[in-house]
Amino acid sequence: MKFTIKTDLITKIPADIITLAVNDKDQILCGKQIDALTLKHLNNILKLGDLHESTGSTLLVHGATKYSRVILLRIGAPTDLTPKEFFKAIVSASNELSKINFTKIIFPINQFVNKLITEQAATSYLVRALVDQGYIINSLKTQNKSKPANFQVYLHTNKPATKEIKQGLKNGQAISRGVSITKDLGNLPPNICTPTYLANSAKKLAREYKMKVTVLEQKQIEKLKMGSFLSVAKGSREAPKFIIIEHNKGPKNKKPIVLIGKGITFDAGGISIKPSTDMDEMKYDMGGAATVLGVMKTVGELNLPLNIIMVVPTCENLPDGNAVKPGDIVTSMSGQTIEVLNTDAEGRLILCDALTYSERFKPEVVIDVATLTGACVIALGHHVSAVFTNYDPLADELKIAGEKALDQVWQMPMWDEYQPQLNSNFADMANIGGRAGGSITAACFLSRFAKKYNWAHIDIAGTAWKSGKEKGSTGRPVSLLSQFLISRTVK
Ligand code: BES
Ligand code: MN
Ligand code: ZN
Repeated sequence: MKFTIKTDLITKIPADIITLAVNDKDQILCGKQIDALTLKHLNNILKLGDLHESTGSTLLVHGATKYSRVILLRIGAPTDLTPKEFFKAIVSASNELSKINFTKIIFPINQFVNKLITEQAATSYLVRALVDQGYIINSLKTQNKSKPANFQVYLHTNKPATKEIKQGLKNGQAISRGVSITKDLGNLPPNICTPTYLANSAKKLAREYKMKVTVLEQKQIEKLKMGSFLSVAKGSREAPKFIIIEHNKGPKNKKPIVLIGKGITFDAGGISIKPSTDMDEMKYDMGGAATVLGVMKTVGELNLPLNIIMVVPTCENLPDGNAVKPGDIVTSMSGQTIEVLNTDAEGRLILCDALTYSERFKPEVVIDVATLTGACVIALGHHVSAVFTNYDPLADELKIAGEKALDQVWQMPMWDEYQPQLNSNFADMANIGGRAGGSITAACFLSRFAKKYNWAHIDIAGTAWKSGKEKGSTGRPVSLLSQFLISRTVK
């Protein structure tokens, strides 16, 4: 998919299809900008009443116009169109487009702009929705491969808005590229996407954008005394890796933003083994790692003037003769001891050492992203990620970024009342806190390792991938975190 900004008159742009927004009164919004022949034919079609009244409905029109097809897109009352509705409308237009064979399409941007949607935002949403919808992963199919969407998109604007549109296109493409690699990493099978594969992907990404990359191996991880992380890795034949990427393009003395991602490339539960139904989906248990790698891709594409450090602890969680057992007590890098009552609560065991490790960067904020708890899915479902924090303004900032990026988070409590659920008779804490408030006690566990800085934890167990017929990574929350960082550069 190629995007080009066009400032010519719409009638001067050669294309085989155009997307025209229709309001709740059956009027074509840029009717005055298209040729009379096309407008007349479309108005006749609209009079037939075939374009459903609900926002996001589409109608594909053939023949009798300047174009070989026109796609009519219902957007309701234009002043009320919300970013969410707009994004959904573009997704449905894109679905329509995927069924036909064309090469050049015009999207006049102005028809989508209102008080809630700036030119820049409209462009960025449009680009993101089209690229997201066009995503395919074919590399392991030998037959029935889907064809990648290979068309030219003309983003039409009137001249004064080009700067805004340029920025929207740049941001939209950078985010889309981040989302896309996150999806690829998530969708790859766990026999390919191993900790070593993640480390190699990190090296490749860092090389591409001239970032500093460090991959710590077993021996070095042992030296750092990450006893908690290593206890999870013990049951696997794959070597654990501790990956760090540093992007230092901010002011020299400015403290960095640290992004940590859970990188369990397969979570069988360990000795506390999971039921076998849908266990394949636990290949997505590196969704946090894939997210922060995707965000670094976006950061690299935009060369953001910030200091950002990515940290990924990665290993497998498998049952084995050498695996950590329920009842084992391990010593974390922080020195705190942990009684492992359930080996399936492994995410927090690898993250706690990454949180302690991050202290050395004297961070301004630390945000960890993890497919941490099934309980989070029960609490919030699949539409929104959960955010927990020891510094409320950070959660507010993430909430605002999530709304803007259409990749939302909802703050959950993390009050001290929950902490005693983690009491252990034999160690400083247990790694589970019982069924009640399971996503909260998981966050409480992590908070014990994040006392030295402002920190937020994002549980993406419900949002990182889709199950069933549409099984696949969503690439969330790359857009949220990218927007969070972009917003910090405009302040
Ligand atoms: N990776 C899982 C969390 C998960 C489960 C995410 C299902 C998405 C869907 C995590 O490692 C885990 O197994 N958590 C346990 C914790 C429990 C043992 C306290 C869970 O949620 O069941
Ligand atoms: Mn688990
Ligand atoms: Zn897990």
